[in-house]
Amino acid sequence: MTSPSNARSTASGSLVLPSPREPSSTAIRTGVFAVEDTTVQLVWPALPVGDHTVEIADRIVAVTGDGGPAALVVDGLPAHTGLEVMVDGALATTFATLPPPPGRELFRLATVGDLHMGDGHTFGILPTLRDAGGKDDPPIPRASRAAMAELTAWGAELLVAKGDLTHHGYAEEFAMAAELLAEPGIPVIATIGNHDVRLGHVDGRPIFGAAGIELAVGGIVVRDVPGLRVIVADATIPERHPGSFRTVGPAILEAAATADRPVLVALHHQLQPLPIPTHWPPGVLGPESGRFLRALAEANPCAVVTSGHTHRHRARRSGPVLVTEVGSPKDHPGTWAGYAVHEGGIRQVVRRVMAPDVLRWTEATKRTLFGIWGRWSPGSLEDRCLTLPWPAGR
Ligand SMILES: [Fe+2]
Ligand SMILES: [Fe+2]
Repeated sequence: MTSPSNARSTASGSLVLPSPREPSSTAIRTGVFAVEDTTVQLVWPALPVGDHTVEIADRIVAVTGDGGPAALVVDGLPAHTGLEVMVDGALATTFATLPPPPGRELFRLATVGDLHMGDGHTFGILPTLRDAGGKDDPPIPRASRAAMAELTAWGAELLVAKGDLTHHGYAEEFAMAAELLAEPGIPVIATIGNHDVRLGHVDGRPIFGAAGIELAVGGIVVRDVPGLRVIVADATIPERHPGSFRTVGPAILEAAATADRPVLVALHHQLQPLPIPTHWPPGVLGPESGRFLRALAEANPCAVVTSGHTHRHRARRSGPVLVTEVGSPKDHPGTWAGYAVHEGGIRQVVRRVMAPDVLRWTEATKRTLFGIWGRWSPGSLEDRCLTLPWPAGR
């Protein structure tokens, strides 16, 4: 049996982990990329050729390897429980499912960011990786399309796209992005990023509008869904890399203050904690993002702020506000984010795109920058998957 008797939640809700057992040295190397309250996403950098059996608690699932990367979602797991993953009968790894937020689940939405439609079939430097599809079949549309299919299957009822929709801001790139985002047939709201306001860019609103997608340019788009107000904001500065709340900040704060429910603010630029940029690319610098987060907590303490731009995964708290960064579907690790909205909180999950041809590409791209990218971009499991109960009193 893979779930020891002490690996379960107590009646008070606190987590009891299984007694620590070392993974077997002979087990196939298995990674836990995403956890929810009842699911786990496992990833193998190289799953040996043949059929394999994965056992977690009372779930037994078959997976077939071709020698390359593979991924699997196992559902139906007990919530808030420490569990062991047995692969072909050997202990491969352990993890814990998340506690669900308080109350009933009301709604699911998903985000994608940094599509960079119109960029080529390569990624990074030292080395520059080239996708096997070449120029005629670049990985970006494939990765975006697969992300859209997988987030829809996860149950998203609204999709938010968080900027860098295009690589150069060209009309044909906005048209490709709009077409892909509209494909799943669920409502979509989008905002722009620094790549969408490069020299020579066009205003994407008419193109997105024709596809039925509201695009935030120079302001915000607000959508109330069950249990949450979604505020999609444009914090770009034309022809510049960093972002700013100087123009859009007051509108976000007004929308948060007047909401009769918690808020999720989605924008392109990350909110840097420090006054100087410590890594590329620069987002909204420390003093300004600090002032904004303090004002947001004042306006509505039940708040999440999520961004892209860095193509990496991080989470931090600023007072009661959860602040997250989520990567791109197109480069390692190749992700989208889901948000389960409950009566008493919200849960974020970041999943890797699982389509085999995309997974092969996003595994390859971790080698860029001498392999540093593969260690920098994913962040920790706690950066990607977490439960936030809303603070009491609102
Ligand atoms: Fe980007
Ligand atoms: Fe960006």
